[in-house]
Amino acid sequence: MAEPPSIARLDEDGARRLGNLYNALEKEAGNFVGYPCNGRFDYRDLFHFLAFPLNNVGDPFVPSNFHLNTHLFEREVLETFRQLTHGSVDDVWGYMTNGGTEGNMYGIFLGRELFPEGLVYYSEDTHYSVNKILRCLHVRNIMIKSCPDGRIDLEDLRETVRIHRDVPPIVFANVGTTMKGAVDDIPGIRQIFDDLAIQSYYIHADAALSGMILPFVEEPEPWDFDAGVDSVSISGHKMVGSPIPCGVALARKSNVDRIARRIEYVGTLDTTLSGSRNAITPLFLWYALRTVGLDGFRRMVGECFEVADYAVEQLCRAGRNAWRHKNSITVVFDRPNPGVVSRWQLAVYGGTAHLITMPHVTCEHIDRFIADLGEKART
Ligand SMILES: Cc1ncc(COP(=O)(O)O)c(C=O)c1O
Repeated sequence: MAEPPSIARLDEDGARRLGNLYNALEKEAGNFVGYPCNGRFDYRDLFHFLAFPLNNVGDPFVPSNFHLNTHLFEREVLETFRQLTHGSVDDVWGYMTNGGTEGNMYGIFLGRELFPEGLVYYSEDTHYSVNKILRCLHVRNIMIKSCPDGRIDLEDLRETVRIHRDVPPIVFANVGTTMKGAVDDIPGIRQIFDDLAIQSYYIHADAALSGMILPFVEEPEPWDFDAGVDSVSISGHKMVGSPIPCGVALARKSNVDRIARRIEYVGTLDTTLSGSRNAITPLFLWYALRTVGLDGFRRMVGECFEVADYAVEQLCRAGRNAWRHKNSITVVFDRPNPGVVSRWQLAVYGGTAHLITMPHVTCEHIDRFIADLGEKART
């Protein structure tokens, strides 16, 4: 695209305010340990793509009238995630979302379209957005108790499903809960359906963070298409590290075909939740997968576990009752005072807090954090 005829220049006050914002963000980034966003990336090679009004509207696998898109690169990203989730090439389709929430909504939408009278089961530890999704989709649902470690309580699920045996279950399975990093027992869930002779059911896996951890550990809990799930949502701004929130939704093609509509206006198939879709975020994920590579992510995840172990050890030494699940980098511990929570941007729930040893979090961060925890007088 040629140089635009005129570019509005920022006035002095605007430039100063942006400068202040940048400095404040830079400072906050130094203490960012509570949320699962990878701050280690470098996408400056991609800045020039901001010169185009890009839009990935429509199905990434179907040509459209809107040619300023990055569908080709989006498809390559999806292919990698299809392989990581053990989806078969003939059976599994996907698209890039605005984040984990959209992917979760998509999964429940497909489940509800398959079983309009279905009942959604999800645990107490499920991400807060799911309750809102269920309200938006106006689907019947029942919350199931969680075990103290954050996994869905299979006994409560069994009993609840048994009472509603006449209605197809749609299970919203957590693959790494928000607060404790717990993975619901998907084989255990399927066993319940077998035991109760329930043949029609749908399982969606919310693998927001762990979808980019479990492919790289030695003994992953069963969580993906191999484990019998029907759809998966993974966030792109979490382990991969996209500076703009995004995600990947993968689902069985047969269920996607049920909701697809041909749209003349854009000359493509409407198979996604959003109409206009971000075309820059596929480039971020593509670039990360291309530069860091899957071996690089395996190494990076391994390093995250080392820092997580260090954090558990140091927090226990400081008397904070820290622990983590075997395949999770979410370190749970006793909730500290509000000053510490704010300074370190910790996520808190009831009496617990967590920190997440994402790739930018080092042992040096943990040492500074523990030192701050020790300064009891400060609030
Ligand atoms: C387990 C889980 N599911 C879903 C979400 C929502 O994902 P997003 O913020 O990408 O929409 C989160 C966010 O932290 C999460 O932890």
